[in-house]
Amino acid sequence: MTKQVYLDNAATTPMAPEVVEAMLPVLRNQFGNPSSTHSFGRKTRALIEVSRRNIARMLNTAPGEIFFTSGGTEADNMAIKGAIESIGIKHAITSTIEHHAVGHTLENYEKDNKIKLSHVKLKPNGHVDLQDLERLLQENERSFVSLMHANNEIGNLLKLKEVGELCEKYDAVFHSDTVQTMGHYPMDLEELKVHFITAAAHKFHGPKGVGFLYIDSKLKIDPLIYGGSQERNMRGGTENVYGIVGISKALEMALTDTDEHQEHVQGLKTYMIEQLRANVQDVSFHGDYEGQSLYTVLNVCFPESDKSEMLLFNLDIAGVGCSGGSACTSGSNKGSHVLNGIGADVLRPAVRFSFSRYTTKDEIDYALDQVYKLFPVHA
Ligand SMILES: Cc1ncc(COP(=O)(O)O)c(C=O)c1O
Repeated sequence: MTKQVYLDNAATTPMAPEVVEAMLPVLRNQFGNPSSTHSFGRKTRALIEVSRRNIARMLNTAPGEIFFTSGGTEADNMAIKGAIESIGIKHAITSTIEHHAVGHTLENYEKDNKIKLSHVKLKPNGHVDLQDLERLLQENERSFVSLMHANNEIGNLLKLKEVGELCEKYDAVFHSDTVQTMGHYPMDLEELKVHFITAAAHKFHGPKGVGFLYIDSKLKIDPLIYGGSQERNMRGGTENVYGIVGISKALEMALTDTDEHQEHVQGLKTYMIEQLRANVQDVSFHGDYEGQSLYTVLNVCFPESDKSEMLLFNLDIAGVGCSGGSACTSGSNKGSHVLNGIGADVLRPAVRFSFSRYTTKDEIDYALDQVYKLFPVHA
């Protein structure tokens, strides 16, 4: 059987066994509707509130500021809708390399003439130009700023604290899509000047279909989904109890020994860079890969070759799962908006390898061997 190596952890991660263990008793035994007032319901309600408190404690914020959602996309949409429709902000600033959950949502508001949308300039290495951000904040009425903490395709990291302070200076409302960084770095929401952040459990070894939105309690927004009074009237619909227990456990696991995990994964990324440089002619990397960069993501720019068309396919056949763009387009390598946004040579095939704490050096070596079969190797 072909060896299977999973290097697409920015798309999704395998569940941690401890998370499965935490969810199983709930799946098996705790079926009460959390809105029911009898003991069955009270038990699942308690599980939700314990999970909320646990998450709030880890992020140094109040439980009342955490709202469970179906994942990152819903949380991003809720924040954006809240800033525009509830708070009434008419000018939004974002970048061309945001996830579509943010980019497409804002473009839609612009199309409907509900906002003026500005795109901040990016530096050649893909980082947000903070001077340009300040200019946009200065020149416009009160703005809504939506900039992701780490880019899911190239890994570039935003200076969250600095951007938050800049937004505060101009009274802007700041949303950061932290889907790729939640559980990968400790976050102190008392310290960060951010109004909304978002999370999806499946990016940090939790279950799919659950996430949360943090909303600064100073802001009052309306729900995205109307219905029952769940989530303190902020998100109608019977709660995903197992998922909520899972996300809480997953975050707990992710934020334990984070430094060790980071060192291990960063070591694999550095090793892969060195090996590719040493062995593949004319290889390069997208983004600020050796600087301010998410340690789990490496976007490799391969030389054009007759095999490059079928690159992802060939790696897949060899058992290596990786991606040519963001998760949403994984499997199809059709022009990434992120690579276009940073002015990359899109004719050269790009492959995103993304790692997790479970990735091993042997797996990297196997993936490298498969790559070497496809590209001219240094003499
Ligand atoms: C940066 C970023 N934001 C949002 C999302 C969407 O998250 P979900 O698929 O949980 O809705 C993703 C998933 O790929 C992501 O990488």
